[in-house]
Amino acid sequence: MNPTKLFRVLGWTVLAVLPVLAGGADDFAPFPSGENAALVKKTCTECHSANIVLSTQFDEALARRQYKLFVGDPDSEEGQKVIKYLTTVLGIK
Ligand code: HEC
Repeated sequence: MNPTKLFRVLGWTVLAVLPVLAGGADDFAPFPSGENAALVKKTCTECHSANIVLSTQFDEALARRQYKLFVGDPDSEEGQKVIKYLTTVLGIK
């Protein structure tokens, strides 16, 4: 392999690995995709597994209560986003 080609391959490798190292804004697995899925993952898997969240169906009251209990003000901008996701994507079917 000539040096130019080697650098090109290395370059692509670094680009491919960077988002993984950075945690990637789109890295929301195993949460179902939806608006703010990555934010919910970050917020709600700090202390326990995703499963504990995913196995719950949230109505507005529960989502607000959990958020307030574990994270903070449910009326904050971030709180609103998380609660919206919980009550829609993980809402009661
Ligand atoms: C500061 C730590 C922390 C954060 C952040 C956190 N939780 Fe929890 N959560 C806990 C603890 C501790 C328990 C009880 C642990 C257990 O039962 O294993 C729990 C339990 C739960 C339960 C099970 C029901 C219950 O009340 O026991 C649900 C549902 C839940 N959390 C949802 C969430 C959601 C949704 C978020 C994000 C908004 C979140 N958690 C963020 C600490 C946290």
